Amino acid sequence: MIAYRIFPWLFITCLCVCICSYGQPGTRSEKLLLDNGWRFHLGDIPFPVIRGNSESYNASKAGNAGGAAAVKYDDSQWRVLNLPHDWAVESDVDSSANVAQGYRKRGFGWYRRSFTLDSTDKGKNLELQFEGIATHATVWVNGQVVRYSWSAYNSFYIDISAIARYGKEKNQIAVRVDADAMEGWWYEGAGIYRHTWLVKRPPLHISTDGVFAQPIKTADGSWLIPAEVTLENTGNKSAAPQVNIAVYDKYGKQVTSAQANATVDVLDKAVVKLNLHVNNPELWNIESPVLYTVKTVVTANGSNDQVTTKCGFRTIRFDADSGFYLNDKHVKIQGVCNHIDHVGVGTAMPDALWAFRIQKLKELGANGYRCSHNPPSSILLDLCDSLGMVVMDENRNFNTSPEYLAQLEWMVRRDRNHPAIVLWSVFNEEPIQGSPVGYEMVRRMSKIVKRLDTSRPVTAAMSGGFFEPVNVSQAVDVMGFNYEIKGYDRFHKEHPTQPMTSSEDASGVMVRGEYVTDKTKHTLDSYDTQFPSWAATHRVAWKAIAERQWMAGCFVWTGFDYHGEPTPYTWPTVNSNFGIMDICGFPKAAYYIHQSQWIPNKNVLHLIPHWNWPADSIGKPIKVMALSNADNVKLLLNGKLIGEKKNDLYEMVSWEVPYKPGKLEAIGYKNGKEVSRYVVETTGVPAQLQLIPYKDTLKNDGQDVTPITVQVLDAAGRPVPTANNHITFEIKGAGNIIGLGNGNPNSHEPEKGNQQSLFNGLAQVIVQSQPGAEGVLTITAKAEGLQPATISIPFKKVPAVAAVQ
Ligand SMILES: *[C@@H]1O[C@H](CO)[C@@H](O)[C@H](O)[C@H]1NC(C)=O
Ligand SMILES: *[C@@H]1O[C@H](CO)[C@@H](O)[C@H](O)[C@H]1NC(C)=O
Ligand SMILES: *[C@@H]1O[C@H](CO)[C@@H](O)[C@H](O)[C@H]1NC(C)=O
Ligand SMILES: *[C@@H]1O[C@H](CO)[C@@H](O)[C@H](O)[C@H]1NC(C)=O
Ligand SMILES: *[C@@H]1O[C@H](CO)[C@@H](O)[C@H](O)[C@H]1NC(C)=O
Repeated sequence: MIAYRIFPWLFITCLCVCICSYGQPGTRSEKLLLDNGWRFHLGDIPFPVIRGNSESYNASKAGNAGGAAAVKYDDSQWRVLNLPHDWAVESDVDSSANVAQGYRKRGFGWYRRSFTLDSTDKGKNLELQFEGIATHATVWVNGQVVRYSWSAYNSFYIDISAIARYGKEKNQIAVRVDADAMEGWWYEGAGIYRHTWLVKRPPLHISTDGVFAQPIKTADGSWLIPAEVTLENTGNKSAAPQVNIAVYDKYGKQVTSAQANATVDVLDKAVVKLNLHVNNPELWNIESPVLYTVKTVVTANGSNDQVTTKCGFRTIRFDADSGFYLNDKHVKIQGVCNHIDHVGVGTAMPDALWAFRIQKLKELGANGYRCSHNPPSSILLDLCDSLGMVVMDENRNFNTSPEYLAQLEWMVRRDRNHPAIVLWSVFNEEPIQGSPVGYEMVRRMSKIVKRLDTSRPVTAAMSGGFFEPVNVSQAVDVMGFNYEIKGYDRFHKEHPTQPMTSSEDASGVMVRGEYVTDKTKHTLDSYDTQFPSWAATHRVAWKAIAERQWMAGCFVWTGFDYHGEPTPYTWPTVNSNFGIMDICGFPKAAYYIHQSQWIPNKNVLHLIPHWNWPADSIGKPIKVMALSNADNVKLLLNGKLIGEKKNDLYEMVSWEVPYKPGKLEAIGYKNGKEVSRYVVETTGVPAQLQLIPYKDTLKNDGQDVTPITVQVLDAAGRPVPTANNHITFEIKGAGNIIGLGNGNPNSHEPEKGNQQSLFNGLAQVIVQSQPGAEGVLTITAKAEGLQPATISIPFKKVPAVAAVQ
């Protein structure tokens, strides 16, 4: 029933791409992963109380941080773990905890990590990079506070060149995380949940996020890359470097290059501008997302630094009358909004799980992704670039004070090379959106964006205030509508020159494999009938977009279920119900509705419900719905015609069928010809387990993961859609189970460990390789009364990830 196709060739080696950006032979720069071997303490550790004069004097001096921030603090009893880490997903749900955060306690935590530097590193520029810590964090290095971080979604970079120690003496990092601080009304995780890095570069180097090289099409139709390279010199001599940029096509052939000379004063920065011309490039688009490689090398007096970025040649345009254009071709944006967590791992998403998710969305027919409501990890943008998905990148905090404008600036600076990004969103649903204050704030934020990138429109995801006399719509380029279907026409009529898109819509709720809405059991049917007060069904929401050419597209809330924000039920429901797929990525009925509508040239046909109803249902009518893009659908039960109906692509077709066990079969016709067939059969009782890995090999880099689908089959080998067996997993070989789950929003089963129940026939277990793993990873699933299943996944040898020891 569920087609888990394997696309191993689509799994790009994302970490490797980052690493290869540096450390080319002949250069001295290295980007080293700093994820392994951290010590962790759950809970806060108070700083010692200081009373004496001399103690106060000493404590105030550089390098003398106290308590768990102190260089010499004894952390030997702390737990050792690898990043990314989310401690919230490790805890049990608790009805007294915050509902929006998925009833997980968050609190405080401390992390420590020491490392040594070779004496040959002396004089280099050394930078620590944290890609994301939830939520507020304080970082110390060698007893000095080096950073306060005020957003869970921003990366930050710390130059430690001045305070580093070399040789035998250790460098000590301490991080205090306050995850009681909340930035959102959804599950945000807790801890250092994205990668960390140590970068070693020559004193004269390219700043982090310092290469901006995005092609633009000029008025005469030729292509130009107006590149900007930011250089920094932390050495003690003024430098006169040469900057070389070369652009390579997908075959590695150089297509253009340019060179410039610069001077960078001591402890200063300089921006070098170069123009590169490219003739007849292959365009980046959704179906064939062709990327070019930009190599920037800065050379000064024998040392050099090199950064590799990607770029894509494409034009974008939002038209007030006719929507979105990519390379002057009209494209309806079929987008989804998503948060950043997955079952089993919470927000500590391995890169390979992001690849799994984007691939699932491509199979769904989605061509757009809204990073709601915060900047994503950069791997997600790399995947959207390479797999072909346009992106609305979104700022988290609506605030125009310097700290928060710096967050917005960081987002644009980090992300502006990605061809996938077509919109910058400065906020989501702010109550002051329909006020002069909102207008004044967005005006300023838009200016920050435009200083760094004039090529993409600024938008804001508004949920009201559209028609106030002074409103945010005056300060954005593209109007973003969250819900408010009834406002689409009025706004377009009153503002005929302003491009519009849905920035968020639908919010239909359903639970995978449930066909009855039962308030006592917290179930929601799969017939697309349920939605909260502000929302609409999947079908109504899409129709409203599809029928208006001037609406650039939609961003359905949401592609996947997520932890937290349970709606419409709360405890014991702990996860959201909005997903087109559940939190594991298993399709719900909404998946086949959207697939029918979004992939016109694929013959989609799916039937709901299952056909495993109890004996007392015999003879009672059951609603059968066909989710299809056929012209006509014929339905048969045990070979007998139930009826044939003309399909409505927006509404879909359904029948009331008196239940009788057996075989329910649908046949789809286009232009009078059979194009699709789908069968649901009454199965026997569970007999044997089945494990289906998403990928057929695991790279042995200690990073790669694959989800494995767990289901049970009857004696005839058919998946049992109602099975809820409790399964135990055993694993042999150099790998680990990093999380598991079943997609039930009411489940309180732990997402760590080696056990899980099926929910309506399915569960997911996620396994990860260990670094240097050899041979195979063997996973066995066992359940009482069932024949066990065992699979072996071979490890694939890949170069070790360059990492801090
Ligand atoms: C303060 O630091 C000085 C110099 O390291 C040391 O001699 C002295 O004992 C310290 N005083 C206290 C109270 O720790
Ligand atoms: C300048 O830096 C180099 C390399 O770190 C170092 O060897 C040298 O002593 C420094 N010179 C001065 C005058 O500080
Ligand atoms: C940069 O300087 C080098 C060495 O002085 C010179 O050969 C080269 O022509 C200069 N390049 C540019 C673009 O000015
Ligand atoms: C370049 O390197 C040479 C030899 O190492 C050194 O004498 C000179 O001072 C360097 N120049 C600069 C500008 O760093
Ligand atoms: C809202 O902003 C628009 C766009 O600038 C402006 O024309 C309009 O007067 C404002 N108020 C209403 C009621 O639309």
